[in-house]
Amino acid sequence: MTDTYPRTFRLGDRQVDRLGYGAMQLAGPGVFGPPKDRGEAVAVLREAVASGVDHIDTSDFYGPHVTNQLIAEALAPFPDNLVIVTKVGAVRGDDASWNPAMSSDDLTRAVHDNLRNLRLETLDVVNLRVMGEVHAPSEGSIAAPFEVLAGLQRQGLIRHLGLSNATARQVEEARGIAEVVCVQNHYNLVHRDDDDLVDALAAEGIAYTPFFPLGGFSPLQSAELSRVAEALGASPMQTALAWLLRRAPNILLIPGTSSRAHLRENLAAGELVLPAEAMAALDATVTARA
Ligand SMILES: NC(=O)c1ccc[n+]([C@@H]2O[C@H](COP(=O)([O-])OP(=O)(O)OC[C@H]3O[C@@H](n4cnc5c(N)ncnc54)[C@H](OP(=O)(O)O)[C@@H]3O)[C@@H](O)[C@H]2O)c1
Repeated sequence: MTDTYPRTFRLGDRQVDRLGYGAMQLAGPGVFGPPKDRGEAVAVLREAVASGVDHIDTSDFYGPHVTNQLIAEALAPFPDNLVIVTKVGAVRGDDASWNPAMSSDDLTRAVHDNLRNLRLETLDVVNLRVMGEVHAPSEGSIAAPFEVLAGLQRQGLIRHLGLSNATARQVEEARGIAEVVCVQNHYNLVHRDDDDLVDALAAEGIAYTPFFPLGGFSPLQSAELSRVAEALGASPMQTALAWLLRRAPNILLIPGTSSRAHLRENLAAGELVLPAEAMAALDATVTARA
């Protein structure tokens, strides 16, 4: 049986593999402090890139600083084809809290923190992580912080800009200020609030990068997902990723893991054959929920 889907999509001025890697899980518990196993964290990063991953998602507020420092330790000097996407707009409190940090000074400091800890002179892609409501997009102008990032882009510190946790209206507002190459929002098999946005961005050639593709801190659980996965001889996580790869051509995956075993499982999802009836069953599960 053949089951083909587009393997790459444009991210800024590069064409990247649609199966990338999200580095947030490499920091300590609660995305705070050092990893439980530093050697394994470094090994995960090296194996990801050795396996063909050319898109890594990070932020200097993971740890804070820890994840970026691990990426630099494991991979610098970076291969030419590797695109590292980071995000700014928050800082961590001493209690591990996530706090908005969207002033001009905050954003400028965050860009320099990312440059220093990643050992780069220019950041490939910087997403403005909108912090209106921390856990879900909420309306409100993002012009002021996005203009700050556009200014840092003009200075040559940033190659491309994107948004995270943003509404469709905020994407349009930002596009009036500078080019937006990607949008990173919460989306997965059972969380599909952004269905219309995914399709609208696909029509514009803009990448959509779902965060929590596997459910994040609460791993995906669905009886239908488990049933379809079992019939395919795959794991539910692989099946959820395979569904995302077929959902729209502009979806870039950044599943997060701190283990090489899970990394291998997730990357193998790219080879999973998902017959039309399996795809329909997964779609119907979600439709039934809505
Ligand atoms: N923009 C934002 O606001 C935002 C928010 C959250 C995340 N992100 C980005 O999105 C990336 C992905 O999100 P995420 O890492 O939070 O969530 P995720 O990819 O949905 O899920 C990660 C969780 O799934 C587990 N896992 C991974 N592969 C697995 C497998 N094959 N089998 C079983 N469990 C597996 C991981 O544990 P193990 O470590 O044990 O594998 C971890 O607990 C992050 O790394 C980060 O870069 C962005």
